[in-house]
Amino acid sequence: MRRTLIAGNWKMNGDFSANRSLLSEIKAGLPASLNCDVLVCPPAPYLAQCAELLAGTAVMWGAQDVSVHAQGAYTGEISAAMLADCGSKYVIVGHSERRAYHAESDELVAQKALHLQKSGLLPIVCVGETLEQRESGQTNQVVAAQLNAVLDVLGDMAAMVVAYEPVWAIGTGKTATPQMAQDVHQFLRQQMAARNAAVADKVQILYGGSMKPENAAELLAMPDIDGGLIGGAALKSQDFLSIIAAA
Ligand code: G3P
Repeated sequence: MRRTLIAGNWKMNGDFSANRSLLSEIKAGLPASLNCDVLVCPPAPYLAQCAELLAGTAVMWGAQDVSVHAQGAYTGEISAAMLADCGSKYVIVGHSERRAYHAESDELVAQKALHLQKSGLLPIVCVGETLEQRESGQTNQVVAAQLNAVLDVLGDMAAMVVAYEPVWAIGTGKTATPQMAQDVHQFLRQQMAARNAAVADKVQILYGGSMKPENAAELLAMPDIDGGLIGGAALKSQDFLSIIAAA
């Protein structure tokens, strides 16, 4: 049985004051017995604040990207070791916004994921198709290429999380129907099972793309949806807590 993971991707939002309020409201609102794992991914400057405010709680923290380099003359980049130093457990890689705005290739995403594993961190590998790709029937081809590029280089398929984020559902309020999402999640699991069925059965596959309190329960009820990667709703404590309660 896979444990549900509810992860908040704060994207480029927040400040020390707003973060303190959001995190204290989340901590105060968490049920005593959580039946899911909870993760927040703030912008990197606020990882230390998360470590301070979340230490000893059930809420984990992580990052939204990582350098593909271990250390050195890479101005502006942040290494996996630095993220681990801040107590990060997971790091998002290959988010569609980075693939689009920073021309991140499947191969670069794969190298970032491998680098994270070598540093003891869990990559959350994002895959997803554009509306044009979906409408032209290329969804499975696109997400298979994105996922297999990572699986081809990863040392350990068990030490990763996959996130299916249809690009056309991110930030748009248009959510994939539970069945549409389940179909892709099942396909992604089949891709992993072709390499190792036992491990594939254990890998969490999160859904991301306008998951909200009103649709979370029906999405999370699908057999191959093991959690959510939440954007906008993660910035509102009551919405994030409602999604956690739906898990
Ligand atoms: O990484 C999660 C994000 O892309 C989803 O954003 O605002 O549609 O929940 P949102």
